[in-house]
Amino acid sequence: MVNELNSTDFSPLANPPYHVGIIMDGNGRWAEANGKSRYQGHQAGTDNLQRILEDSIEFGVKMLTIYAFSTENWRRSTYEIKGLMAILESVIDRRLAELSRKGIQIRHLGELDKLEATLRKKILYGMESTKHNDKLILNVAFNYGGRSEIVQAVKRVIQDSILPDQITEELLSRYMYTAGSPDPDLIIRTSGEFRTSNFLIWQAAYAEYYITPTYWPDFSKAEYYQTLSEFSQRDRRYGGRK
Ligand code: IPE
Ligand code: IPE
Ligand code: MG
Repeated sequence: MVNELNSTDFSPLANPPYHVGIIMDGNGRWAEANGKSRYQGHQAGTDNLQRILEDSIEFGVKMLTIYAFSTENWRRSTYEIKGLMAILESVIDRRLAELSRKGIQIRHLGELDKLEATLRKKILYGMESTKHNDKLILNVAFNYGGRSEIVQAVKRVIQDSILPDQITEELLSRYMYTAGSPDPDLIIRTSGEFRTSNFLIWQAAYAEYYITPTYWPDFSKAEYYQTLSEFSQRDRRYGGRK
């Protein structure tokens, strides 16, 4: 799994996943292990994300969904929450132009309404100003929860006066935040927890999972490459038989 990660040979992958989801977990434990504050841990995680974005483009991933703040993360201290909001804001302020130059299109998944107006406007600006980019679609799940996503979908279905007979899996998919996007092929979770933590629970019904003990700030290009090449060996049967 995590062995032989010193390879610098990143030859093109024959069959990279189209859509990768990442539960970027372990910033806090990384900080603790390195004698730093949790805030510094989140910053280190954000720096790592910049690298992973470039690697995603290089490895042929077309869509990346990152779990950056869950609806459950409001249970953390006000101090930590403020830090996480500030980090997202500063990424938009300082790095948006560079992300756009790289051809990255930013989308948001989750409830925008509950975020402060300044941050909300910046996120909307980030989406608007990158909407024509097509190298990599980056879905930022921020104030996102899978159950809350399903609840908002059901509410809108009712508001649209959809009749029971019209409700299908395809229709419900169109009411999710990911409307129009293919389901994730691969979900990576760092820091060794074996749970979804409410991430893409509708969309990931048939995703492949990869869980690594590595803390998110240490998740390297080499491990990412190895994860993607291992993915291409998997036998995805979708309940059928080959
Ligand atoms: C993931 O790192 C980032 C967020 C949840 C925002 P954590 O902050 O959960 O790090 P650990 O799990 O405490 O190590
Ligand atoms: C999941 O990590 C959420 C994000 C990575 C944003 P958590 O650290 O919040 O999840 P739990 O608490 O371990 O389930
Ligand atoms: Mg965590």
